[in-house]
Amino acid sequence: MTAKHQAPRGTYDLLPEQAGVRARIVSEARVLVEGAGFGQIDTPIFEDTDLFVRTVGEATDIVRKEMYTFEDQGGRSLTLRPEGTAPVCRAYLEHGMHKLPQPVKLWYTGPMFRYERAQAGRYRQHFQAGAETIGSDDPTVDAELIDVLAHLYARLRLPAVRLHLTSIGDAESRAEYARELRDHLLRHDVFDADQRARIEINPMRAFDWDDPDVVAVTEEAPKMVDRLTPADAEHFDEVRRLLDGAAIDYVLDPRLVRGLDYYTRTVFEFRCDALGAQSGIGGGGRYDRLIEQLGGAPTPAAGWATGLERIAQALESTATESPAARASARGRPDFYFVVSEPRARERVFRAMSELREEGLGATLDLGARSLKSQMRQAERLGAPWVVIVGSDEWQREAAAVRDMRRREQSEVSLSSLRKELTARAA
Ligand code: HAM
Repeated sequence: MTAKHQAPRGTYDLLPEQAGVRARIVSEARVLVEGAGFGQIDTPIFEDTDLFVRTVGEATDIVRKEMYTFEDQGGRSLTLRPEGTAPVCRAYLEHGMHKLPQPVKLWYTGPMFRYERAQAGRYRQHFQAGAETIGSDDPTVDAELIDVLAHLYARLRLPAVRLHLTSIGDAESRAEYARELRDHLLRHDVFDADQRARIEINPMRAFDWDDPDVVAVTEEAPKMVDRLTPADAEHFDEVRRLLDGAAIDYVLDPRLVRGLDYYTRTVFEFRCDALGAQSGIGGGGRYDRLIEQLGGAPTPAAGWATGLERIAQALESTATESPAARASARGRPDFYFVVSEPRARERVFRAMSELREEGLGATLDLGARSLKSQMRQAERLGAPWVVIVGSDEWQREAAAVRDMRRREQSEVSLSSLRKELTARAA
């Protein structure tokens, strides 16, 4: 049967099983970023449209064709946030965070909205976790951000994640370079009319196109990383020395193009081959001019964001985790009670309440199902112990406790249920 209503194109419902995986990703991210001194911030999911136009950039795909923009009842133009960096910078200014000791380190998680062509790994509402360090131009900031994100992927055991890294310098040298690149590209006869128009707007985009003739031309083209000012080149060298010292592997990739205009100096992207076409799993860089563009004092900053759906998809593709391990990420019950003796219900209910008091998870089957299907349900939920009270056990004033991992069963008396079960879960 097809439902009359479906989730809008490019969106999805996060069902309990996937919600568990999501929760684990976010909790690993929290432990890592908060361990690195980032505090959490939550900004609204919509902002003044102008905030994104100014920062993400008028010429970008995001602003030109992907924003969910609407007018509210008061005639204001608002936009569902397509990304989190501009809102965080807006909040930094609005709350006078420049008066705090610098840099200010903030992290966030939540939905982002882009009207993109929906396909595997690409959604119109997707979720990110992101981190921003605002108020320092120290290369250590860039390296620390990269290191934290690399560790997040490692901790989650993502398969084959590669870090692509380059520097795109400052706005002045990049403008000069863009002219040089545009001239170089347009001397070649391999671009169609649409591509030529896009080269006029932003020639760097040509590095993204994979037609072999185009690649041949862009391979030969001058690269921004060779046109850096001495100060930018030194900054980049120091980022690299820090990463080398920490044994963080990366690929120097002068063709790396980010889809947002606010970047300066260091830019990076983590890619995961297991993801297929949408291999970008997380990315970011420095954005030393963004706060100024929003009317603040010159304030260097850097950050990253990572896509939560793409992480989950990469985890799925490896299936290195057993179903039980995956379930345990979900906040599973420790004890699953199977009660076929009706007279035992109240006793069992009290035992469950006591277990909760001990900080343990417990649930009981509420449908009158067969023992077999109850065991299956316990397994599905990932409960490590099943506590069975049938009429035989009830006669003996006892309960059978089955260790689901060891496949062993023992009997404990109902009077010592709390003590016995708590000891097992310790
Ligand atoms: P972004 O590269 O546009 O950067 O997005 C970050 C991550 O979000 C991507 O690497 C990808 O995993 C995920 N993502 C983006 N679009 C989609 C989509 N349509 N569907 C599924 N996943 C998606 C930013 O947004 C910057 N704010 C990152 C940043 C923070 N730079 C500095 N600070």
